Amino acid sequence: MFNKKTLRDVDVQGKRVLVRVDFNVPLEEGRVADDTRIRAALPTLRYLLDHGAALILCSHLGRPKGERRPELSLRPVAPVLQDLLGERVTFVDDCIGPLVEAAAHSLGSGEILLLENTRFYPQEKKNDPEFARQLASLAEVFVNDAFGTAHRAHASNVGVAAYLPAVAGLLMEKEIRYLGQVLAEPQRPFVAILGGAKISDKIGVIRNLLAKADQILIGGGMANTFFLAEGYPVGDSLVERDVLETARQLVEEAGPRLRLPVDVVIADAFSAEAQTRIVDMGPIPDGWRILDIGPETVERYARVISQARTVVWNGPMGVFELPPFARGTFALAQAVADSQAQSIIGGGDSAAAIQQSGLAERVTHISTGGGASLKMLEGAELPGLSALLDAD
Ligand code: 3PG
Repeated sequence: MFNKKTLRDVDVQGKRVLVRVDFNVPLEEGRVADDTRIRAALPTLRYLLDHGAALILCSHLGRPKGERRPELSLRPVAPVLQDLLGERVTFVDDCIGPLVEAAAHSLGSGEILLLENTRFYPQEKKNDPEFARQLASLAEVFVNDAFGTAHRAHASNVGVAAYLPAVAGLLMEKEIRYLGQVLAEPQRPFVAILGGAKISDKIGVIRNLLAKADQILIGGGMANTFFLAEGYPVGDSLVERDVLETARQLVEEAGPRLRLPVDVVIADAFSAEAQTRIVDMGPIPDGWRILDIGPETVERYARVISQARTVVWNGPMGVFELPPFARGTFALAQAVADSQAQSIIGGGDSAAAIQQSGLAERVTHISTGGGASLKMLEGAELPGLSALLDAD
């Protein structure tokens, strides 16, 4: 199933290795606010250091639109990585050019260089071959460990693979194995929990999972469009009118496998101080909006989850950032943690919800990729993976 060469298949002793990591981490006041993605790269970095490589690390951070934006510099990542690895990490404030070449070529075994944000160059997102060639010229081997970026075809994860022996890192391998195995041969019953604000982001996922999952439990803002498609007025709730027809078709195709909330929490404003009510699903009055699934839905969904042997979860059930609307998401997190199922949590908001609920240790795998794990659930190819060498 995982059919790519990995860092175990190449000799890195005494070699300069370009490692594409996903250090696209949240920053607050110039500091790393969440180091999960940095920690997730450590096994690969340790492996390479233990095997005598010199490391040149590159990543994007945020969306600087091809311009040098100091607030999106990777500089704050260097001290965090240095502490986690217990090894000196040198930061260089560019990712190509003579200064970077000099720094890279003078690196010895066991030394680590972190390059500046690759997206400070517009060529990165354009997958420009010349930019990729310059980046690749820094090293002798390319290791791609940036699963979170694998759905993008950019120069630093796809372009460079044309110029260097290109293999997967340990995080990339682990992510693909977990998600790939669940999709290819899930233990049944296989239950998918899908939430989040927008249905339009998840149509491909629902379609692909309809062919594979035994039950799909829907929550979050995306449920509203399904309700409207079923003919219920949804008051001031968020809806996507342009996909109403698609939502109607999906409900019809899916039949009883697609479950919608039977009750919801509504509020008279998008605010933690709003008035709230729990109502059975039916017409929602004007001036009110749906912000969470209700207790009866939680109970029904939890029952389905308790019988599952595989659970995949992507997207929260409500606006869990606001305490009055967090109950549905946290209750399902508990149900997933309590179940015997193999449980895979998609990145982004669902990963944050599991972390906040303190249940991260009780699920099988939390993906570091939001968009990338969605693409996998859609059954789409990941260019960052395809570009790597095939296993023998
Ligand atoms: C992510 O956070 O999903 C990845 O780092 C990709 O970032 P992007 O959506 O800005 O390409």
